[in-house]
Amino acid sequence: MVTNRTVTITDNTTGDTVECPIIEGTHGAPVISIKGLYPALGMFTHDPGFGATSSCNSTITYIDGDKGILLYRGYPIEQLAEKSSYLEVCYLLLFGELPAPEEFARFSAKIRQHSMVHEGMRTMIGGYRQDAHPMGMLVGLVGSLSTFYHDSLDINDPEHRVLSAYRVIAKMPTLAADIYKYHLGQPFNYPVNSLGYVNNFMRMMYAVPAEPFQISPTAVKALELMLILHADHEQNTSTSTVRLAGSSGANPFACIAAGIATLWGPAHGGANEAVIHMLNEIGEAKNIARFLDRAKDKDDPFRLMGFGHRVYKNFDPRATIIRQACHDLLGELDAGAQQAPLFEVAQELEQIALSDDYFKERNLYPNVDFYSGIILSALNITVNMFTVMFAMARSVGWIAQWMEMMVDAEQRIGRPRQLYTGAAKRDYVLKRDRED
Ligand code: SDX
Repeated sequence: MVTNRTVTITDNTTGDTVECPIIEGTHGAPVISIKGLYPALGMFTHDPGFGATSSCNSTITYIDGDKGILLYRGYPIEQLAEKSSYLEVCYLLLFGELPAPEEFARFSAKIRQHSMVHEGMRTMIGGYRQDAHPMGMLVGLVGSLSTFYHDSLDINDPEHRVLSAYRVIAKMPTLAADIYKYHLGQPFNYPVNSLGYVNNFMRMMYAVPAEPFQISPTAVKALELMLILHADHEQNTSTSTVRLAGSSGANPFACIAAGIATLWGPAHGGANEAVIHMLNEIGEAKNIARFLDRAKDKDDPFRLMGFGHRVYKNFDPRATIIRQACHDLLGELDAGAQQAPLFEVAQELEQIALSDDYFKERNLYPNVDFYSGIILSALNITVNMFTVMFAMARSVGWIAQWMEMMVDAEQRIGRPRQLYTGAAKRDYVLKRDRED
């Protein structure tokens, strides 16, 4: 909402000045519209990493990093984690309201209708090495989804946009399970639409033809929680990538593939896999001090994986929920017992880090990735599949943000500027005139 508040920017060498309007949102910091800056002062703002830059209007997710608040369409994550389901959260993120029973039934039926993938994709999977990293496979497979749906990729057609959203949400579990089965050398399972979304996924992941399939309701509930907590998170790096790709008019599957590629980085979604490797490397509580010293050493690239966040300068509310879920679940899940020592090291590491001045001064708290790997391991999900699980959960956030961008009148092709610090203009030097 544009206010009559402005900020005045004045160049103290020339006296040139510009009034920039302040725009307020529902919650959180107001923003300064700087559209008039270049025309008035011939200057750009400079914000490497976009730490102080608002890139868009959004009505989907709100984060208060100082208070550790996360809202999906205004609903606190703690309430959704306790009372909702992933598919209901998908509806909420896509359409802005909690669905009435009939609406939810229709939505669920739509998702079930698109749960299978074209058989050609299973042939594609066979072209990868069996030890290919699952995220590398997921990037390729999701990007290729657009090659199977020429009939519904008109991004200016609202019905095509919603259909693409259904396809992304419905097919990610099938692709993730197929990748996992290929990795194990086991036969693929087809979706069984009579099962719930998470049950269907777990069956595709773990069922084998030789045995009847059983999955513990505790495990299903734990995975449902993880999917809800990872579903969206404002303008994080991968979501910003999806929006930037979408601003060029690229099809939604290509945009989501770009988001998956971005999420893979260990500074972002790849951290859940890196945390487990780090906890295994630490091994026992007595080794923690050495790793904290490395994390503080500016000459050592090592960082404490699962700690720190660009926005949360307090607890990541998702980490708090996941830590409690770890505590509740490890004793209940069959594989949970093996994770107990890892959970103990993680808790000890958290306590020591949170009392260490280096971490306190920099407001470095555990983030969503710090404990998530422990639950995923207890669910018998292999470590190299962790970021695939994150991508599966976040696919609804990506596609919801893409849909929002596509109807935002303010949105144009994203094209940042730069501060050029390279060579001054100079003439070409012929080879014979160059000195060795
Ligand atoms: C996710 O944005 C999102 O919303 C992301 C996400 C989502 O849901 O989409 O929440 C998911 O990506 C969570 C983050 C997962 N990544 C990790 O756990 C990797 C470890 N964390 C760091 O790489 C880091 O904290 C980042 C990348 C998460 C945040 O980096 P920033 O905001 O750029 O922070 P910074 O690099 O400016 O660090 C500030 C200071 C620096 O020290 P000084 O230069 O001030 O002396 O804190 C230090 C950093 O060296 N620091 C760390 C640290 N994180 C920051 N030091 C040791 N270990 C760490 N983990």
